[in-house]
Amino acid sequence: MSAYKPADLIETDIDAYLHQHQHKTLLRFITCGSVDDGKSTLIGRLLYDSKMIFEDQLAALEADSKKVGTQGGAIDFALLVDGLAAEREQGITIDVAYRFFATDHRKFIVADTPGHEQYTRNMVTGASTADAAVVLIDARRGVLTQTRRHSYLVNLLGIRKVVLAVNKMDLVDWDQSIFDGIVAEYRDFANLIGLTDFTAIPMSALDGQNITEQSAAAPWYDGPPLMRWLESIEVEDALPSQPFRMPVQWVNRPNLDFRGFSGQIAAGTVKPGDRVKVLPSGRESRVARIVVLPGDLGNAQAGQSVTLTLTDEVDVSRGDVLVAADDPSPVANQFETTIVWMDDEPMLPGRPYLMKIGAQTVAATITEPKYRVQVNTLEHIAAKRLELNEIGVCNISLDRAIPFEAYATNRDLGGFILIDRLSNRTVGAGMLHFALRRADNIHWQATDVHKEARAAQKGQKGRVVWFTGLSGAGKSTIANLVEKRLHALGRHTYLLDGDNVRHGLNKDLGFTEEDRVENIRRVAEVSKLMVDAGLIVLTAFISPFRAERRMAREMLEDGEFVEVYVETPLAVAEERDVKGLYKKARAGDLKNFTGIDSPYEEPENAELTVDTTTLSPVEAAETIVAWLERG
Ligand code: ADX
Repeated sequence: MSAYKPADLIETDIDAYLHQHQHKTLLRFITCGSVDDGKSTLIGRLLYDSKMIFEDQLAALEADSKKVGTQGGAIDFALLVDGLAAEREQGITIDVAYRFFATDHRKFIVADTPGHEQYTRNMVTGASTADAAVVLIDARRGVLTQTRRHSYLVNLLGIRKVVLAVNKMDLVDWDQSIFDGIVAEYRDFANLIGLTDFTAIPMSALDGQNITEQSAAAPWYDGPPLMRWLESIEVEDALPSQPFRMPVQWVNRPNLDFRGFSGQIAAGTVKPGDRVKVLPSGRESRVARIVVLPGDLGNAQAGQSVTLTLTDEVDVSRGDVLVAADDPSPVANQFETTIVWMDDEPMLPGRPYLMKIGAQTVAATITEPKYRVQVNTLEHIAAKRLELNEIGVCNISLDRAIPFEAYATNRDLGGFILIDRLSNRTVGAGMLHFALRRADNIHWQATDVHKEARAAQKGQKGRVVWFTGLSGAGKSTIANLVEKRLHALGRHTYLLDGDNVRHGLNKDLGFTEEDRVENIRRVAEVSKLMVDAGLIVLTAFISPFRAERRMAREMLEDGEFVEVYVETPLAVAEERDVKGLYKKARAGDLKNFTGIDSPYEEPENAELTVDTTTLSPVEAAETIVAWLERG
């Protein structure tokens, strides 16, 4: 390696600089702590002592390197703004400042996230791609709640290289006993969370002591200064020695003669001739070529982005995972996971979200929140939902089986994000622990009499007429009239009414958001069974949330779900107040009442809307029956 400092080289020999730069290893790390602990000073110090390669300097460099056409001269700028890869694709940025610097020995990307509890999601984003963490402590204040929270998250996200940076040692006169006391206290906590190994460094970021140079102020400390630690730690890279895994990002088909599968190798190595399996389908083939620009490779390993061609015409689509045929990934559709919730709207079990994992997107439902972790105390607390920045262990169920690895084994194949289906926001991030066995032992049982046969015998087509609207809008009244009329016409019907179902099947549910979601989920499942039985089902539930009405719709086939919005302005429903509930709600005697202190989301694409301020219940019912009898 050249004896020049990078900054000197940039001025004298750009090609040599770029060459040197390209062959240095990259360390991504996160700094945890707050401004009070001296975090900005520390980062500033690291940048300064590394002779500061500013981002704009690098930008100029990249342009230069393209101009002169230096081979391999492109600087990987994407790395600077790299968050969770999937989140980046989503186009949503949770604020994390990434800074880039380099020394003679290594390139660094430091993710700098705010320290306070309300920024947990930012820290999780920053930590999700980090190899190492610097946990900053103010020597005067010692191990704080915040230190514990940060360390818990660092460990949760699988970072195994940790520095306890005991800063501001100058303000405690470099007193070794203070340092030792802090280290002992931290070690007790680290043991509790399973963080088995860390390096403690006494330092003063302000004075630059123990940052790049060994400090003379602490002769009793014989460990490395921070920069040397950062430069020398082995980024544990067990990935190439694991069995081969590559999520297919896209199917590359420029013309009829070429069909390649592109992606980044998530684990293991690959060479032409290797037998691979396509998951989840399980089809097998062999690797024909490893194509990259400018030419084919003889082999490739974890971390490289490649295009593979196979010897057979097997079916492979985006999101599939190519794996070593003799050591494939497990495939499952139910998991225990840890989820960090990142949205202002709470996570509600039963609500369908999208999960992005590897290169695929699947529908996911939290079936069972087991507990949430009070990060400051590590207590497990029973939870039915997760709020912003809360962390919980939850069972999750997917709409189809996916190949996966435990997050502890492979971040790419075990880490995921959750996306809200209506707003398209990233609402959570999580880690797969293991597949739930129960999924393995349950299979779909085929029956001989089908939905069509059952419906045909009744001379009708099974469907759901889903009434939605405020309490007191007239859903039950109108649904009852519609059923009477259909019954008279010889139709086979069943009316599921909110109040009635809450006397039996759903009597364990109240009116919190999570209970309403579960109420509607069960009703949607029951409706689906009844449609399978060939019935015309009428449901009369407030069903206040779009997400669950959409879920009910998607459980059925096209044309089987008819959403009827019973439209009544709040003031009118309140004026009627048939059950006296609005009065109670206004008086504060009834909590979470729809329209008062619990939201109602109006339908956006109901098949039918009946306005109860202009139509009588009988007229509304006739309109609906006429519509139904037409189609
Ligand atoms: S939903 O929101 O979960 O779809 P559902 O239709 O089952 O509600 O039940 C609504 C009925 O429960 C209302 O018509 C009303 O009679 C009664 N009720 C009791 N408490 C509430 C409440 N807090 N909010 C709305 N309805 C309530």
